Amino acid sequence: MESAEVARRFLKFFEERGHLVVPSASLVAEDPTLLLVNAGMVPFKPYMLGQRTPPSQRMTSSQKCVRTPDIDEVGKTTRHATFFQMLGNFSIGDYFKEQAIPFAWDLLTKPQSDGGFGFPEERLWVTVFHDDDEAAEIWNKKVGVPAERIQRRGMADNFWSMGVPGPCGPCSEIYYDRGPEYGREGGPVVDEDRYLEVWNLVFMQFERGAGEGKEDFPILGPLAHRNIDTGMGLERMAAVLQGVENIYETDTLWRVLDRAAKLTGTSYGREHRADVSLRVIADHVRSGTMMVADGIRPGNEGRGYVLRRILRRSIRNLRLLGAQDAGLMHELTDVAIRAMGEQYPELIRTAANIHTVIDAEEESFLSTLRTGTAIFDTAVAETRGAGAKVLAGEQAFKLHDTYGFPIDLTLEMAAEQGLSVDEDGFRRLMKEQRDRAKQDAREKKTGNLDVSVLDALLTEAGGQVDFIGYGHLIGEARLVGLLVNGANVPAAGEGAEVEVVLDRTPFYAEGGGQLADTGVIRLGSGAHIEVRDVQSPLKGLIVHRGVVRGGEARAGDTAYAEVDVERRHAISRSHSATHLVHAGFRRALGESAAQAGSENSPGRFRFDFTASGAVPVSVLRDVEDEVNEVLINDLDVRAFHTSIDEARAMGALALFGEKYGDEVRVVEIGDYSRELCGGTHVARSGQLGLVKVLGESSIGAGVRRVEALVGIDAFRFLARESVLVNQLSEQMKTRKEELPERISGIVTRLREAEKELEKVRAQQVLQAAAGLAEQAADLNGIAFVGHRAPDGTGADDLRKLAVDVRGRLQGRPAVVMVAGAPKDRPVVVIALTEGARERGLKAGQLVGLAAKTLGGGGGGKDDLAQGGGADAGRIGEALAAVERAVGAA
Ligand code: ALA
Repeated sequence: MESAEVARRFLKFFEERGHLVVPSASLVAEDPTLLLVNAGMVPFKPYMLGQRTPPSQRMTSSQKCVRTPDIDEVGKTTRHATFFQMLGNFSIGDYFKEQAIPFAWDLLTKPQSDGGFGFPEERLWVTVFHDDDEAAEIWNKKVGVPAERIQRRGMADNFWSMGVPGPCGPCSEIYYDRGPEYGREGGPVVDEDRYLEVWNLVFMQFERGAGEGKEDFPILGPLAHRNIDTGMGLERMAAVLQGVENIYETDTLWRVLDRAAKLTGTSYGREHRADVSLRVIADHVRSGTMMVADGIRPGNEGRGYVLRRILRRSIRNLRLLGAQDAGLMHELTDVAIRAMGEQYPELIRTAANIHTVIDAEEESFLSTLRTGTAIFDTAVAETRGAGAKVLAGEQAFKLHDTYGFPIDLTLEMAAEQGLSVDEDGFRRLMKEQRDRAKQDAREKKTGNLDVSVLDALLTEAGGQVDFIGYGHLIGEARLVGLLVNGANVPAAGEGAEVEVVLDRTPFYAEGGGQLADTGVIRLGSGAHIEVRDVQSPLKGLIVHRGVVRGGEARAGDTAYAEVDVERRHAISRSHSATHLVHAGFRRALGESAAQAGSENSPGRFRFDFTASGAVPVSVLRDVEDEVNEVLINDLDVRAFHTSIDEARAMGALALFGEKYGDEVRVVEIGDYSRELCGGTHVARSGQLGLVKVLGESSIGAGVRRVEALVGIDAFRFLARESVLVNQLSEQMKTRKEELPERISGIVTRLREAEKELEKVRAQQVLQAAAGLAEQAADLNGIAFVGHRAPDGTGADDLRKLAVDVRGRLQGRPAVVMVAGAPKDRPVVVIALTEGARERGLKAGQLVGLAAKTLGGGGGGKDDLAQGGGADAGRIGEALAAVERAVGAA
C-alpha cells in the first residue's frame, strides 16, 4: 500500500465518522513556544486549551512534522527520522476514550478490502498509563484484547505532552508484533524492536506548566473539556503495510536513498557505515526540502539553524560516501520533490525556489569545508610542532563553532594524520555553549499565547473587522474594545498605552512587507488616540496600538479614524514600486528570482529574492531603466478578488510559503506585473515619479537584497549626488565625464610616487653603511658599530643595514648593532662576524640584553638576531649596554 494511500484511508475512515478533514499546517508553527510543528496536534492546541472555537469538534489530519532532538541517532538506527507525517483524529470536548479506542481498533483490524489496514488481531498489543483502569477496561471488555496483551507503563512512556506548557494527558499505545525473528517474546515492555508502536492515543485532559524532560513538570489543573489527540506515524505504518524492514525502505524515502546510492557508487545493505550515511541523506534531504518549501531559509539561529544543520549533515554524508562534486544535492532534492509532490503539489510549483536555496547552501558549505580544512591542517602542524599527539579540545571546538566543521569530520581527519582529539575537552566546551544557549532561550521564552482575549474582541467586532483603507483614509467607526497590558478594560485614561479594536478601520495593519499606518483616532468624547502601530494578530482582527490623549477612551465610543495621509501615500508608492522591481527581476533573471521578503516604508523599500549569485550591475541598471519606463507609461493599477486557481491561471505571482484562503486579491499594474497582494497601492504607475535602485547585496545563502528609493526621496538622492559630482569636478578642474579617468590617474601616480619614495629611503639607509663601517670603534680588538637609524626606518631596512655593515667588516671580529623605531616601538638588529662569534659572543644573547633594557624580548641565531621593546626612549641605554658587553668579551 503506497504511503499516499495509507493517508487517504485514514482520513476517509474518520471523515465517514463525522470528522472534518483539515489540511496539514505549515511546518512553521504559529505557536511561539515551538520552532517547528512536531506533532499532529500542534495546530489544534488553542482548541484543546479552550482558547479558540474549533471549526468542528471532530477533526482529522495528516500533518507534516519535524523533530530533531534525536538527530544524531538518525541513520544509526532505522527507527529515527527528522521528518515524518502524523495521521491523527481529534476530538475537542466531543468523544473520549470509550470511543477513541474502538475507532482505532476498527481501522487497524478492518480488512484492507473494506478500507481498513487489515492487521490480524492477535498481533496487536496495547499499553496504558499505570493507573488508567478505565482504558484497560475498554481495551479488555469493549474491544476484547486479552488481559495479557495489555501492559501498563509510567510517565516516561504513557503520558504525553508537547514538551512545553500546554495540554497533556495519559496515553495508550498500540503495538504491532513483527514476530519472533525480530526479538524477544513479552510485549512492548520487553522489546520495542519486535513490538513496533503504530498508534498513540492521548487522552488530553490536563494543562501542564514549564519543566524539563518527560516527567519533571507540574500539572496545573484539568482542561475545560476533555479531548482526544491521536498520532499514527505515516512512514512507520507504510513500512509495515509495504512489508519492508523499516521506514527507509518505504516508497518515498527509498527513492531518495536509492538515488544517493547510485550517485555515490555505493549500495545499500552491504556495509553498516555506508548504510548509516545513506539513511541520513534520505531523511535529511526530504526534511530539508519540506522545510524550504514552507519558507524556512538556512541561517544561524532558530529554524534556520535546524535547516542548515540538516542540509549540512546530508552534504557531509555524501562526502563520506566519496562524493567530491557539487550538484548532488540538486539531484537528490529533485527526487524528494517528485516523491512528495503527489501529496504536496506546491513542491512541484515552487521547485525552482527550493533548488536555489539548497544549491546555495551546498555551495557555501563546500567552501566552508575548504577553509576549515586549511585551519585543520594548521592545527595539526601546531600539535605536531609541540610534540603532542592529541588535538586540543579548543581547536576541535573552534573548527566546529567558527568553521562549521562537524566533530566527526575532525575526528576522522585527525585519525588519518595519526592524531587523536581531546573529545572530552571538546564536549565540555560544547556543553558550556549549549548551557549558554539554553539560558538565553529561557530568558527569551514567551508565555502561552492566550488568544481567547483577542477572539472575544473579534466576536465583539462581528467576527471580522472591516478594512476600508483601500478606498478611504478617513472613516467613522465604533470603538469595540480596549486592551491595556493584554487585558480587556472598559476604559483607559490620559497617557495610557492601549490596544484598540474598531468595528471598521482605514488603518492598514503591518503585513505582506508593508509597514503599518500611523495616524489618529478621534473619539466622540473629545479624547483621541495617537496610533503608532497597527497589527493583525488574528485573521480578520485589526488592532491599533497607541496612546490615549486629551481625556478617556471608552468601549462603545464613536470613533473617527484618520490615517496619516502623506505617510500612507509614500508607503503605497513603495509597495507598487516593489511589485515593479519584482516583475523586472523575473523578466531579467527568470522564474527562480522569487520574492523572499520585502519591506515597504515611506520613500524607500527593500526587496529580497532568491538568486544563486550576485546580480550583475548591468542587470540592476536594465531593471531600473525598464521600471522607470513603466512609470512614464503611466499604467493603470487595478486590484480585484478572485479564486486562487483563477489567479494562478492568470500567472499571478504568489508569495513563496504563504497561505491563502480560497478567495485572493490580485494587484496588477498594466500588464507588466500581477501579484497576489493584500497591500495598498497607487492608482497609476506615474504617481511613483521615479525609482532609484541603490544597490544589491547578499543577506544569506541564495538570498539577495535590493534597496531602492521612490518618488521625491529618489529625486533628492539623485540631486545630492549631482551636487557632489559638480563639486568634485570643480576641485579636480575636470569635466564630469572625465572624473573617473582623472581620479584613477591620480591614484596610480600616487602609488608610484610612494614606491619611489620607499626606494630612495632604503638607498639612503644603505649609503650610511660605508661611513658606519669606517667609524667602527675598537673594543679590545673587536670592531663595534652601534647605530641609531632615523625614526620611521622599517625593520627590513634596519636588518639590511646591519648585514651590509657587517659585510664590510668581514674578516675581523665585529659586532654591528642597528636600532630604530619603525612605528613608535623600538627594534634592534644585531649582526656578528665569525670572528666575533669565535670570541664567544652570540647575537641572540646580545639582542636579549638590549631588549631587556627596552622592555621587550627577542632572539635569533648566533650570527643575526632581532628584538624589540616598548620604550623607544631607551634606545641609547640599550646601545650602551651592548657596547659594554662587547667590551667585556
Ligand atoms: N500527540 C501524540 C504524539 O505525538 C499523539 O504522539
